[in-house]
Amino acid sequence: MAKLWSGRFSKEQDTLMDDFHSSIHFDSRLYAEDIRGSLAHVRMLAACGIITEEEGEAIEDGLWELLEDIESGRVEFSADAEDIHMNVETLLISRIGDVARKLHTARSRNDQVALDVRMYVLKEIHEVIDLLKKTQSTLVRRAEQHMGVLLPGYTHLQRAQPILLSHHIMAYFWMFQRDIERLEDCAERTDVMPLGSAALAGTTYPIDREMVARELGFSRVSENSLDAVADRDFIMEFLSCISIIMVHLSRFAEEMVIWASSEFGFVTMDDRYSTGSSIMPQKRNPDVAELVRGKAGRTFGNLLSLLVTMKGLPLSYNKDMQEDKERLFDSVDTVKGCLTIFERMIDTVTFNVERMRAALEGGFMTATDVADYLVRKGLAFRTAHEIVGKIVLFCEKHGISLCDLRLEDWRSFSSAFEADVMDAVDADASVASRDVYGGTAHSRVAEQIRLAKRLLG
Ligand code: ARG
Repeated sequence: MAKLWSGRFSKEQDTLMDDFHSSIHFDSRLYAEDIRGSLAHVRMLAACGIITEEEGEAIEDGLWELLEDIESGRVEFSADAEDIHMNVETLLISRIGDVARKLHTARSRNDQVALDVRMYVLKEIHEVIDLLKKTQSTLVRRAEQHMGVLLPGYTHLQRAQPILLSHHIMAYFWMFQRDIERLEDCAERTDVMPLGSAALAGTTYPIDREMVARELGFSRVSENSLDAVADRDFIMEFLSCISIIMVHLSRFAEEMVIWASSEFGFVTMDDRYSTGSSIMPQKRNPDVAELVRGKAGRTFGNLLSLLVTMKGLPLSYNKDMQEDKERLFDSVDTVKGCLTIFERMIDTVTFNVERMRAALEGGFMTATDVADYLVRKGLAFRTAHEIVGKIVLFCEKHGISLCDLRLEDWRSFSSAFEADVMDAVDADASVASRDVYGGTAHSRVAEQIRLAKRLLG
């Protein structure tokens, strides 16, 4: 069939050209947004008297039928018609005839594609938020289940200070909370209706942009037609949000891989989310966590790819911008897939509380508590730090831990030590004493969980 823009051409496109520039094999995903956008546009054209009511109704009916047929798999798109926008229009013309040729009045594919992608991003932002919330609920549930379980907290992957497992789990809750807030913020800037910008300069027809915005549920219309068709910031922003979510998931995944190792043994993945080895019969591999960690990389690649695509483009639309879609779709699929399976993995993982407890022994993790003890007895913190450092060195030399020291040993380092120093070296006491807002004390973690539940609503 002749191209919708074939008027000024005297030769047909090379078929190689069709394959090369056609985007229908990936942008067909936007069919629903494209048709909803057209429905709003055509209603407005009729309301403004740019087409007649009858023409408007005929086009609307045709669009609804087309939507139904696409949804039930009765429609085949063609690379010949280049992209989803022209496929919809071509199909409509073949179904309802010449009246459909009026649909594209006062519109360009440039503002049309900007509209479709904004609608798509808004929809996906909300789906990603829902998945984040589901993951957060699971974290809260697991944290509540394990209140009172202690494990080493780490810095430099060296045992640092004892903490509550629930505190560790809840750390990820807050990362995901910021991710949600970032997405909500991104939605605010995406919520701008570009139609009416036409190709780049606006349109000569007396259209009603506010009406189209209202019909489609947008809060405002774009201020500058050039900017509206050239802007892909909202996609960059969404891909950044997704990348940050993937950083969080990947760090969590990395901890799960480490914790599942025989050396740590802090967690055992459920069979349903583990895999075996084709050669080593004993293996149980944490593939979910590893794949999530691996897939983070491709979402960063997608973001970078779009940034680089956009950085040298003059205003306004350039065909390079068609490259935004595969990057966008891939990141959306990746983050949704990862969140869905990661939530299942966290929901079903077994926390090996005995192993965590055992890891508290012998690592001098309450050394800071001993220094704080000396401060309570009147020493300056730096002096206390120095003394406790010497005690640790002494213990290391003799192959013992802080709890093995007798009172005489303590007192040989400082006369400020008394029998109650034994309380300071106790891991449970150490946790309980970190009773600052945001700290790991039981009551503070419970406070966090209450707040988290309120946020989840
Ligand atoms: N398929 C195009 C894209 O994704 C639609 C816009 C085409 N506009 C144009 N002037 N060729 O960017």
